[in-house]
Amino acid sequence: MKIGMPLTKFLLEEQRHYPGSTGNFTGLFSDLAVAAKIISREVNKAGLINILGEAGRTNVQGEEVQKLDAYANSTIIKTMEHGGHLSGMASEECEGVIDIPDHYPRGHYLLMFDPLDGSSNIDVNISVGTIFSIIRKTTEGETTEKDFLRPGAEQVSAGYIIYGSSTMLVYTTGHGVHGFTLDPSVGEFLLSHEDIRTAEKGNIYSINEGNTKNWSGGALKYVEEIKKDGLSARYVGSLVADFHRNLLKGGVFLYPADKKNPKGKLRLLYEANPLAFIVEQAGGAASTGLERILDVKPKELHQRTPLIIGSQADVKKAERFFRAETPALSN
Ligand code: AHG
Ligand code: MN
Ligand code: MN
Repeated sequence: MKIGMPLTKFLLEEQRHYPGSTGNFTGLFSDLAVAAKIISREVNKAGLINILGEAGRTNVQGEEVQKLDAYANSTIIKTMEHGGHLSGMASEECEGVIDIPDHYPRGHYLLMFDPLDGSSNIDVNISVGTIFSIIRKTTEGETTEKDFLRPGAEQVSAGYIIYGSSTMLVYTTGHGVHGFTLDPSVGEFLLSHEDIRTAEKGNIYSINEGNTKNWSGGALKYVEEIKKDGLSARYVGSLVADFHRNLLKGGVFLYPADKKNPKGKLRLLYEANPLAFIVEQAGGAASTGLERILDVKPKELHQRTPLIIGSQADVKKAERFFRAETPALSN
């Protein structure tokens, strides 16, 4: 029985099981867990913003207060850049590649992340999260944007931290999905969900139905169909929270391309790819509606993609509707 095992111990045990894993990766992951704990502490203080000061202003101690997404972004960069495990990073919050300063050692991994997903929900005490994706750098020399433009199928690891009623870290290295809950009293992530499997078919659908007027026939007909099937609607508006609930309970999340977002809204490298890796490892599926997310060849860092993700049978069913209606968006 591994339940209750600290993350660091679990990682070391995994490392022993899989000859491919190196201590390097375990070190990288431990640094990431530190960043997660720092962000978690700050997110939990968000309600005190009027006391401590709002973003762009100074707090009662006279310190400059940052917006939480900027804070999460710089926390991850600062925590990860000196570990010696990375050759570079890319973040939803930064335009180009984040290089490792010359005075720090470099490693062979590349980290991509959405530092704070669902950030518009912070002010109203709804769960937000951090999403990350790790790949290997396959070229020698300077790190360029091209190094990051690899299909999601090449991810070495992916995961998210959800700052909810408790803080949880969920990740995969391609050997199943494991969830750890932060015990604030000891400051450790403890194994709470070993080998998460998602339902083959779910009872929940999650989509922003306020966008109905912009949808294509595929989305319209699919949603009409699943309503007839009696699925329940649940939409928080933080991808990480909607995804996490559906992963544990079974269900499907959709953010299709529509007239307002013709390429979809969510980001391929920071959101869709990491969650697609996780959902597949849990027995689910992720699709653009036309193809498997993990097979998409990225063309740019901030590329957007339509996303249908969750229980296998639900995603496959949605694909049938989207495939039947592909050209409909042009009018
Ligand atoms: P972020 O906060 O990182 O910009 O992401 C917001 C995303 C995602 O979390 C959520 O699923 C989606 O935006 C919600 O979009 P709508 O408000 O258009 O439904
Ligand atoms: Mn996001
Ligand atoms: Mn974000």
